[in-house]
Amino acid sequence: MPTPLARRLGLTVPIVQAPMAGGWTTPELVAAVSDVGGLGMLAGARITADQLRELIRATRRLTSRPFGLNLQVPIISPEEAARPANPEPLRRLREEHGLASEPAGTPAWVGPDEAVAIALAEGIRILSVVMGPPGSWLAKARDAGAVVMATVTTVAEALEVEGGVDVVIAQGGEAGGHRSTFRPGAPDHWPLIGTMALVPQVVDAVKLPVIASGGIMDGRGVIAALALGAEAAQLGTRFLLARESGATPAYRRRLLDADETDTAVTDAYTGRPARGIRNRFLDRMAEQGGTPLPWPRQGALGAELYRASFAEDGEWAPLLAGQGLRLAAREQAAAEIMRELTATAREVRERLPRW
Ligand SMILES: Cc1cc2nc3c(=O)[nH]c(=O)nc-3n(C[C@H](O)[C@H](O)[C@H](O)COP(=O)(O)O)c2cc1C
Repeated sequence: MPTPLARRLGLTVPIVQAPMAGGWTTPELVAAVSDVGGLGMLAGARITADQLRELIRATRRLTSRPFGLNLQVPIISPEEAARPANPEPLRRLREEHGLASEPAGTPAWVGPDEAVAIALAEGIRILSVVMGPPGSWLAKARDAGAVVMATVTTVAEALEVEGGVDVVIAQGGEAGGHRSTFRPGAPDHWPLIGTMALVPQVVDAVKLPVIASGGIMDGRGVIAALALGAEAAQLGTRFLLARESGATPAYRRRLLDADETDTAVTDAYTGRPARGIRNRFLDRMAEQGGTPLPWPRQGALGAELYRASFAEDGEWAPLLAGQGLRLAAREQAAAEIMRELTATAREVRERLPRW
């Protein structure tokens, strides 16, 4: 399935392992996917400049094939930054777990400009962004020959980035993790367009190659994405269960136990909408009805609680995951996941003309 985009990115399989911030997309995972001809993606959010450099170098030591870096570049309007909030429920939770009501302060996370400079210096030539269009670094990335991809959740967002990027990643409402929606607004206005509806509409609207993302878990989904006009499929949740991912044992257990009805989209984790598995945290936030602090402050307020909970039972952590959960039935080596995805995709492709 060597689509034109796969060829351009140097892939033999049109499958992208989604970048997943939080320590989940380890160098081992990224390298394992790239090594067998897919595209491994590192996540560049909530890490320091030194950590980013080390992640890239560690991945490079494990594979000589191309891999990419993802950056979170949220547009934060003055209205969003000033949104009235009541984070009391999260503060109370912190206190119940023995934490001070306010976080001690966050490290200096690497910003997009510095991250791109590091990535280019370290030889990365595939960049993707989420939550907004690329920033002032775009020209530098382009001059260096990088392929730049932007993640969108609506046709309007695709049109907004079309002039400045090489590839559009269409993220359907099924997707696990944060919504890439540029200006999410009030919850009743969050666009949650399913992958099946979004991908062909984006394909028709822009002249760029499109990658489909959201709820794709197996080779059937990969072929469906290609049938909708995408040139590759980006999978997150399925790769969380790769042995090489950084997902903790509690997180893995919940991914294996949960099914398609168990996720919800909420801004309670970070102030921006994200899909995750319902747990005590989400129940408590729903019961106590606070209003999250604007991004990124809600996430910073929750960070220590989340980290501790991931290491324990995951009940108070953002268990980000998509709706295809039942199709992630076991833990596997990343190369085995890739083999299975490709084998099933081939099988489906051969079977289809006989119907
Ligand atoms: C745990 C988790 C973390 C994620 N973090 C990021 C991220 O840092 N950057 C990004 O572009 N997308 C992120 N995503 C979204 C993925 O890129 C992708 O849209 C999603 O995983 C696709 O849906 P699926 O999980 O059903 O495959 C994350 C998804 C998950 C499940």
